[in-house]
Amino acid sequence: YKNPTAFPQDFLWSAATSAYQIEGAYLEDGKSLSVVDLNINSAYADTSITSDHYHRFKEDVALMKELGLKAYRFSISWPRVLPNGRGEVNKKGIEFYLNLVKELKENGIEPLATIYHFDLPDCLQKEYGGWSSRKIIDDFAYYCEVLFEHLGENIKYWFTINEQSNMFLLPYLMVFDTDKSLEKQKYEMNHIMTLAHAKSIQLFREMVPSGKIGPAIGISPNYPKSCDPKDIQASREADDFRTYLFTDLYVYGHYRPNIWKYMLENNVAPTIMEGDLELIAGSKPDFLGLNYYQSRVVAYAPETLENKDIILNTGGNKGATGYEVIPGIYQGSSNQYLEKTDWDWEVDPIGLRVLLNDLNDRYHLPIIITENGIGAIEELTKERQVHDYYRINYLKNHLAQCRLAINDGVKLFGYCPWSFMDLLSTTSGFRKRYEFVFVNREDEDLMDLSRIKKDSFYWYKNIIETNGDML
Ligand code: BG6
Repeated sequence: YKNPTAFPQDFLWSAATSAYQIEGAYLEDGKSLSVVDLNINSAYADTSITSDHYHRFKEDVALMKELGLKAYRFSISWPRVLPNGRGEVNKKGIEFYLNLVKELKENGIEPLATIYHFDLPDCLQKEYGGWSSRKIIDDFAYYCEVLFEHLGENIKYWFTINEQSNMFLLPYLMVFDTDKSLEKQKYEMNHIMTLAHAKSIQLFREMVPSGKIGPAIGISPNYPKSCDPKDIQASREADDFRTYLFTDLYVYGHYRPNIWKYMLENNVAPTIMEGDLELIAGSKPDFLGLNYYQSRVVAYAPETLENKDIILNTGGNKGATGYEVIPGIYQGSSNQYLEKTDWDWEVDPIGLRVLLNDLNDRYHLPIIITENGIGAIEELTKERQVHDYYRINYLKNHLAQCRLAINDGVKLFGYCPWSFMDLLSTTSGFRKRYEFVFVNREDEDLMDLSRIKKDSFYWYKNIIETNGDML
């Protein structure tokens, strides 16, 4: 009988990145621009060079090997592979990923590929409004077909769409029509994305029968602000709107009745065509990918609160820290018991255990943590080091909760800290740095882009070597 308190022997000790955040070369070798290339916050670095991984991937994979990674999660850039969004495959684009995967495999690292991480080809946005049109479903399916055909043999684990849930919270990830109700557009796009996700799973079953596929969802579990039953109910509904809306669709293929009622009453329900729900229900994922950074606190929100659109306060320079409100249902608030990061994200390791158990009880699917980590302002010391002890604490505490969750019965099979190396933070450029490898550049100064191992690199290496026993 195996030791229930240890990480499984084949646990995927990993780390994550995404294409537009590390690759750079945004117009090189045939790549066209994506909506993020054009929309990313211009107060910070743009996507043209970022960490220059496109040119330095061999050096980066060598560092992954030194770190001891068993797996590496990266995303594929749709406009690099299909510069026109569809049609002719860009040979050089697909070659880049073939070479990356080859390099990973030769170094004993399992590739974990995300199909879509926010970077929609801008030409499709211009042509028919991107995710607002059902036309994208076929284009997305074609893109997946190209990936499965070229890379299916060499990549076992795939993620369909990264953080479909966050398009509701982070408006810069999507392009909206300012003349129409924002909320209505979001629910429409959510439905269309779910169909695209489902179709990609069906294709995958045919083309990569031995592989595994699932979504990567961004989730912050909601705690009630008090034991007032109104707050308890508010926290449950916040989970419905922010989590179970997506996960119930992915796993069970249905809209939760309370959300459907809300959408009808507020005239924001998506158009559902014949066969849609059957397609979704017939495309159950193999696992759930979970991006976890923080928990949230919510209280009951009186009807009298004004704004009917879901309110998003992205907190200016500090990133997505604002509190959300749905009048009559819930409003966000802060948690007095938790410490905050430099960006006011509340640090809650126990919340991860709570969430893992909730997801396990509800869906009984294996889970992989596809993102988890701490963003901070960092500089090299004179000795060219980065003493990121706060990150070591963060990861240690979260991993300890993962181990407890495994002990609780959660089938957790991997952990991908965000991120393997410094990259362009979606909200804050290079001012906000994440895990393991420092990239020597600033937002406006490219410097030499050299790679420097942070203290957390050595710590994680040791954790991997001991399969978590050194925690
Ligand atoms: C997730 C995204 O939402 O959070 C990543 O999948 C992102 O792309 C990460 O970088 C951290 O957010 P930020 O704003 O700190 O870069």
